Amino acid sequence: LQLILIIVLLFCSVSLHPPGSENACEKTSFTFLRQELPVRLANIMKEINLLPDNLLRTPSVRLVQSWYMQSLQEILEFKDKNDVPSCSFTDAVIKIRNRHNDVIPTMAQGVVEYKETYGTDPVVSQNVQYFLDRFYMSRISIRMLLNQHTLLFGGKVKVNPAHPKQIGSIDPHCRVSDVVRDAYENARNLCDRYYMNSPELILEEFNVKEKEKPVTVVYVPSHLYHMVFELFKNAMRATMELYGDAMEYPAIHAQVALGTEDLTVKVSDRGGGVPLRKIDRLFTYTYSTAPRPSIDRSHAAPLAGYGYGLPISRLYARYFQGDLKLYSLEGYGTDAVIYIRALSTESIERLPVYNKSAWKHYKTMHEADDWCVPSKEPKDMTTFRSF
Ligand SMILES: Nc1ncnc2c1ncn2[C@@H]1O[C@H](COP(=O)(O)OP(=O)(O)O)[C@@H](O)[C@H]1O
Ligand SMILES: *[C@@H]1O[C@H](CO)[C@@H](O)[C@H](O)[C@H]1NC(C)=O
Ligand SMILES: [Mg+2]
Repeated sequence: LQLILIIVLLFCSVSLHPPGSENACEKTSFTFLRQELPVRLANIMKEINLLPDNLLRTPSVRLVQSWYMQSLQEILEFKDKNDVPSCSFTDAVIKIRNRHNDVIPTMAQGVVEYKETYGTDPVVSQNVQYFLDRFYMSRISIRMLLNQHTLLFGGKVKVNPAHPKQIGSIDPHCRVSDVVRDAYENARNLCDRYYMNSPELILEEFNVKEKEKPVTVVYVPSHLYHMVFELFKNAMRATMELYGDAMEYPAIHAQVALGTEDLTVKVSDRGGGVPLRKIDRLFTYTYSTAPRPSIDRSHAAPLAGYGYGLPISRLYARYFQGDLKLYSLEGYGTDAVIYIRALSTESIERLPVYNKSAWKHYKTMHEADDWCVPSKEPKDMTTFRSF
């Protein structure tokens, strides 16, 4: 779906319609969701079934599967009913959303259990990475729809008091630099707590068409926030680890540029960078060079350690046809770049589909590489957790 369509057709902006037509909107949303949600749920459930048997048998993956099964059943109950009270559908949507809150850590747990018991080989790792990207992307899309419905029709108050101009979770005039600054401040609080200090921020903005105006875009601010927050945490950690006890740290530079096609946000640090050989690895799930945070201290959010920051952020960027890339100058620092479509008509959901092509990914033996392999990886002392 186009971002714009999500707003205009399916959930009719509250302000676009005279009072009294809200029920009609809710009905449109209901009719759409009861058809679309089962499709998205069923697609990804089919794909879960293609995972290796031993992974499917882990308690965590079974639990996740049972949540999907339950939710699918609950939505299907609305299939032929046309006169359900709208609140009962909204309640069902809220229940489903809450049931799936812990899908990411639970699935991650399943993968860790599997890797610990059965070890790992490159084919399985590749399949699991392929699956997790699609699985989490599907989850992002389903939650986007669930959230949009509950935000617009869930409570008595139709306007989000904190963000009165937002339509559900979408902001038609999202001020990018405000979100960037907000994410920086929050990352900085975490950084201060861990390192007793933090790098400054230098923020620049370039608006190619309207030079004096702040850069805005039609987007989901919470997604943008999620991405830049992760990038700032990484940039801060790299800077603080490199400069150790020095009392001065090189600032983190953030640049926001709006062109005709792209809105680009670049976060640059001088934290020493990452060698090219390892860049791809940073996007694999559970890869982290930070010690794994203990789970019981659930109130103090960790600065790093789950290894999900980059891969999940890249999914958010790709969800509306953007991307997230890292460019590093080893020995100096890293540029992390988020690309977002400047035109909301280009922001179309990127969804995994279950068909023969997807199926083949899991079933065909991966062909042997057709480039020669370098003799041996240099040994290095960094500790990392791969699968
Ligand atoms: N700006 C950066 N500079 C140096 N290393 C980085 C940077 N960003 C990410 N990394 C490396 O990539 C790893 C994975 O990052 P991420 O996915 O955010 O997980 P986490 O932060 O939980 O470790 C980090 O542990 C770190 O080693
Ligand atoms: C699977 O779906 C994708 C996206 O719709 C499409 O591009 C691809 O050709 C399909 N593959 C098969 C074998 O149908
Ligand atoms: Mg991180």
